[in-house]
Amino acid sequence: FAFTAENQAWAEAQITKYPAGRQASAIIPLLWRAQEQEGWLSRPAIEAVAEMLGMAYIRALEVATFYFMFQLQPVGSVAHVQVCGTTSCMICGAEELMELCKTKIAARPHELSADGRFSWEEVECLGACANAPMAQIGKDYYEDLTPGKLEGLLDEMAAGRVPTPGPQNGRYASEPASGLT
Ligand code: FES
Repeated sequence: FAFTAENQAWAEAQITKYPAGRQASAIIPLLWRAQEQEGWLSRPAIEAVAEMLGMAYIRALEVATFYFMFQLQPVGSVAHVQVCGTTSCMICGAEELMELCKTKIAARPHELSADGRFSWEEVECLGACANAPMAQIGKDYYEDLTPGKLEGLLDEMAAGRVPTPGPQNGRYASEPASGLT
């Protein structure tokens, strides 16, 4: 793994934001940039980031494995679906969403679909409990889901479109649409 020239310059700029001896503080943005470059975080990518920051590989791996935002194996080329399985979402139908993922994407979490375009996993609370059940797909939250709504979203994405994030039943999320406050 090697950062592109542009990402290398960006990473070096991040490191300079921290006092001497504290370069490790840049671990999350550098891991994130590495993941954005390759789509997931491979061991060589984590090793490269650790070396840039003067950290042991195991310390960088500890960070990478702590957060759901980091993917340690390849994800679907179109979308990786992170279904919240914590209490509010579980009570409101998360298991049905995961059943849909099992039949429509792959039988087990982190497996790629047959065409390699989708993957899924269960994650812990993503802080959108009021609009449960929900899933994060890419960087967006899709809330107030039903299996049918989630299937529709995946079909839209498979067709190359980006569905509108937020509640899928018409109600507001935490912030009303602009102009309606
Ligand atoms: Fe699902 Fe909090 S319980 S977002």
